[in-house]
Amino acid sequence: DPPRLLAFAGSLRRESFNRRLVPVLVEGARDAGAEVSLIDLRDYPLPVYDGDIEADGMPDEVFRLQDLMAEHDGLLISTPEYNGSMPALVKNTLDWISRPTAAGPSGTTLFRGKAAGIVSASPGPLGGLRSLLVLRDALAKLGLVVVPQQVAVGLAAERLPETGVLVDERMREGVHGVGASVADLAFRLKGARDER
Ligand code: FNR
Repeated sequence: DPPRLLAFAGSLRRESFNRRLVPVLVEGARDAGAEVSLIDLRDYPLPVYDGDIEADGMPDEVFRLQDLMAEHDGLLISTPEYNGSMPALVKNTLDWISRPTAAGPSGTTLFRGKAAGIVSASPGPLGGLRSLLVLRDALAKLGLVVVPQQVAVGLAAERLPETGVLVDERMREGVHGVGASVADLAFRLKGARDER
């Protein structure tokens, strides 16, 4: 079976540069044989994590995201950078998914041994590079295996004029390559998980 990957942009705004970039990542993974589900985090509105909300009854959106994560073999994320880190939206989404599931005790088992690839976009010159360092670390902490390749697309207002269009050819190949690498890695890790 082909590996299945879950993709999203770490921004909610309609004209988000990361929303424009994520289809390039998805195309790379699909060209390498993966099945990709591209979701919009607007469809999974979550409160800021609060243990009391969790105790009173897990939001349905959390279970929906956990079910999605259970059905997929890896993650593709295009993230903005806020004040040198990943946006609260991205961390909050990962934090909620990592909580106990409807089926079992620990959401982190949903992530463990799966593949991930990350890119970023920013109107600034560094392209959100610092957010990638932080996100890479957080994903590794959850047990995901993050491919070493990554691309930070700076000057995004010029380079990402519309959805799926990355004008800089070298960067386009780089982002496409991240998607392809995640597809390859997810395929191999899936084989290893199935053997256990
Ligand atoms: C930013 N922005 C930003 N950009 C950057 O390159 N480094 C940074 O540290 C920050 N910090 C930051 C903090 C906050 C609170 C906001 C709202 C924005 C600018 C950011 O890159 C820009 O808003 C992007 O357009 C956000 O990504 P999307 O929404 O276009 O995908």
